[in-house]
Amino acid sequence: MLDATRKLAVVTGASTGIGLELAKLCAGDGYDLVVAANEPEIERAADELRRDGIDVKAVNADLSTTEGVDRLYDATGGRPVAALLANAGRGLGKAFLDQDWSAARYVVDTNITGTIYLIHRIGRDMREQGDGRILITGSIAGFMPGAYQAVYNGTKAFLDSFSYALREELRDTRITVTCLMPGPTETEFFERADLMDTKVGQDDKDDPAKVARDGYEAMKSGEGGVVSGWKNKMQAATAHVMPAERLARMHTGMAAPGSAKD
Ligand SMILES: NC(=O)c1ccc[n+]([C@@H]2O[C@H](COP(=O)([O-])OP(=O)(O)OC[C@H]3O[C@@H](n4cnc5c(N)ncnc54)[C@H](OP(=O)(O)O)[C@@H]3O)[C@@H](O)[C@H]2O)c1
Repeated sequence: MLDATRKLAVVTGASTGIGLELAKLCAGDGYDLVVAANEPEIERAADELRRDGIDVKAVNADLSTTEGVDRLYDATGGRPVAALLANAGRGLGKAFLDQDWSAARYVVDTNITGTIYLIHRIGRDMREQGDGRILITGSIAGFMPGAYQAVYNGTKAFLDSFSYALREELRDTRITVTCLMPGPTETEFFERADLMDTKVGQDDKDDPAKVARDGYEAMKSGEGGVVSGWKNKMQAATAHVMPAERLARMHTGMAAPGSAKD
């Protein structure tokens, strides 16, 4: 039974990885939860998140579609959403022209269209209720033209930019928008994106629990954004001064098929 006196958080992409860790942090702070992913695994995650006195609802929905986002929205049952953690996302390796069009489109529809549609729906409710926290999982990938992950990096550039723009529009309200920008993180992301034969797929990566904590703390204190980890902070700083062509060439070294062997 949902208890209307407790705060509700919505976390997308919570079946695994960074999203599951974000949902654990919300549960630890006593939020009721609506968690979503596009696989039955979300039920297992919800079981893991349930603890005394906390209600957790799992939604198995494709958030690349309008219907999927509407179903997630409906699952909140009209309760005010105190925190929206828009984290669901999908990568896709290989050269753009070698990618399956439907797979490339799924990345755009999930990372951009579904994400901002959900933020549009819940953000309007937050405006009505007068407060709320929004955390968007962008990426340091958004600072680099991502050769051999071109569509993905483009979607993250969109989200990084969108997050700061929306934050500015809401500056005079009690709604905060925070962008979490992780670097390579040890999750199922690389396997799912078919990047396991690449350097970035094989290199050491950050701990998703630590990355999630950085984002969650930034959201709680209402910061504009956080790049998780000092190595990523350096990479982000470099990306701001290096010419785009050089960045794209660097990305080839990390993400080109077979680069794991180089
Ligand atoms: N891992 C990294 O190196 C890294 C770095 C920077 C940013 N990020 C971002 O961090 C976020 C979380 O990724 P992760 O690394 O934790 O990878 P992950 O373990 O693969 O988690 C991705 C989550 O998003 C869900 N998802 C993907 N497409 C969806 C869709 N259409 N509808 C509903 N749920 C969907 C996944 O479940 P289903 O696939 O079953 O739907 C899963 O729950 C993503 O936005 C990613 O771009 C990751």
